[in-house]
Amino acid sequence: MRIEAAVLRHHDAPFEIETVELADPTGGQLRVRITGVGFCHTDVLPRDPSFLAQPPIVVGHEGAGVVVEVGAGVTGIEVGDHVLLSFDSCGLCENCVDGHPAYCFAFFARNLSGRGPDGPGPLTDLSGNAIASRWFGQSSLATHAVVSARNVVVVDKDLPLHLMGPLGCGIQTGAGSALIALKVGTGDTFAVFGAGAVGLSAVMAARVAGASRIVAVDLHTNRLDLALELGATDVIEGETDDVARQIRKLTGGGVHAALDTTGAPQVIASAIDSLRPTGTVGLVGAATRELVLAPAALAAGKNIMGILEGDAVPQLLLPRLIELWRQDRFPFDRLIRTYPFSEITAAEADAASGATIKPVLLPHP
Ligand SMILES: NC(=O)c1ccc[n+]([C@@H]2O[C@H](COP(=O)([O-])OP(=O)(O)OC[C@H]3O[C@@H](n4cnc5c(N)ncnc54)[C@H](O)[C@@H]3O)[C@@H](O)[C@H]2O)c1
Ligand SMILES: [Zn+2]
Ligand SMILES: [Zn+2]
Repeated sequence: MRIEAAVLRHHDAPFEIETVELADPTGGQLRVRITGVGFCHTDVLPRDPSFLAQPPIVVGHEGAGVVVEVGAGVTGIEVGDHVLLSFDSCGLCENCVDGHPAYCFAFFARNLSGRGPDGPGPLTDLSGNAIASRWFGQSSLATHAVVSARNVVVVDKDLPLHLMGPLGCGIQTGAGSALIALKVGTGDTFAVFGAGAVGLSAVMAARVAGASRIVAVDLHTNRLDLALELGATDVIEGETDDVARQIRKLTGGGVHAALDTTGAPQVIASAIDSLRPTGTVGLVGAATRELVLAPAALAAGKNIMGILEGDAVPQLLLPRLIELWRQDRFPFDRLIRTYPFSEITAAEADAASGATIKPVLLPHP
């Protein structure tokens, strides 16, 4: 089938919308007509020449759309179903079986290599050359995608489907990090470093969980203002020397849990410093440099936890977040700005500059 897809041909080239050939779904796969697809910071990682996935590639891993074809062996999902696409997992390894598919032993191969176990994926260009097209098992920056059934969450047909895609990664990661990985609970204190799509989703989730104090730290005052509207009780401008001291003061000795979404070593060190004894900091930001810590930094029983996708099972977490959204208790749509598909370069630039918190591309006008 001929489709349009945003192809990254070279590390430093813009995404180009090309007509390409999409193979039919095979066993365990579905074809989805993409209604809307979020742009996540992870989508630019193949621009790094040392990264696992490399151009030519179609990225996109926050797709939402309608099932138009069902491959062999798929049960419980039908043509016409509305679906959100999330990350891929094997379903067979110890962690998948134990209910932690984000820690699938094959997570990096299945999601971040851009390729499938048996080749580059279902896309070829019109000269017949393969394009890496199994990014997060979906490569959904396209009008259509062939996806793994395990990636799919079926949702109600009355939802504004074109806005729902970011639930599959950025929003799930923030909410799941607070609720599932860090287990922020009633009366707990919580700090978020970086108030972007992931951090603000963690703020909204911590409010739902009944955290007593939710501190958001960022460099942009407009993001801090939004954090206050979404549930933060306190905000602090980052890059002041005493962020950790201010947080300890606000929370009677430090927070129970903190989430770093910046990946910046000095911010992570500050997050650790803001914990109360036995507190835990979760790391989700794509780190750029090594983290160097004094051996005593984790004294008093402090913990550091790397987190992928909020340790969520998408089929469990996403319907819950949608129900909270219906009740106006999780207004994730306030993070979103939509763009026509042809404006993908603007969407990428606005995500990078911070002008837009969560761009969503609309592949069908
Ligand atoms: N682990 C996962 O599963 C997973 C999933 C989705 C995204 N991510 C990663 O999470 C990170 C955050 O994603 P996002 O979409 O929220 O990005 P974002 O850029 O919207 O948010 C990051 C925020 O950090 C702030 N910031 C940067 N430096 C700071 C500093 N020194 N002090 C305080 N704030 C600072 C920025 O102003 C920005 O608002 C990205 O690196 C992304 O790749 C990881
Ligand atoms: Zn697995
Ligand atoms: Zn992502």
